[in-house]
Amino acid sequence: MSFDLKKLIERCEEALEHENPQQATKRLLRESLQDPGSVKSALMPGNRADFEFLYESDNLTILHFIWAPKMTMPAHNHNLWAVVGVYEGREDHIFWQKADNSEYGDADIRPVGAASIGVGEVLSMDSHAIHSVTNPTCLFAAGIHIYGGNFRETDRSGWDPILLQETRLDAEKNQAIFDVENDVLDLLKHRHK
Ligand SMILES: [Fe+2]
Repeated sequence: MSFDLKKLIERCEEALEHENPQQATKRLLRESLQDPGSVKSALMPGNRADFEFLYESDNLTILHFIWAPKMTMPAHNHNLWAVVGVYEGREDHIFWQKADNSEYGDADIRPVGAASIGVGEVLSMDSHAIHSVTNPTCLFAAGIHIYGGNFRETDRSGWDPILLQETRLDAEKNQAIFDVENDVLDLLKHRHK
């Protein structure tokens, strides 16, 4: 089944009426990623670290992420349930939990689990989840992340990647993570000229 963004949005909206919207969304995202090549050709090209809003409403947000080689998005929460799937490369997720006594000095969190998802695979997180995402490959990776609410309007936290201390996450900080990756890519490109 070839990827159809309009259909994905319609089906996600329908899934919200389901008795377990997150489970229904997980199922339909997995189905939507069955033909990864068609997902790739339907969305913006994956040659820069970037993300785009594919859909946004009060109850639902669909984001498209493109991860640079070896890129890490440091620990953050969503305060919304989330279902994430990959259509190119891999995403390695580390799950974190708030901790009074972290093994990392004054850190607010500690790692409690991990998952790695490849092409066509989908992962679910509850609204309390804190995760970091790494592209473990030397190529670009890309996926679709769906949230059970308005991502932009929901207060979220990020954790400093070195101190692991909580700060408020805003759009500017989020964008800076992608900008740094693209600066590195530009630098590497320049050096190879
Ligand atoms: Fe996330």
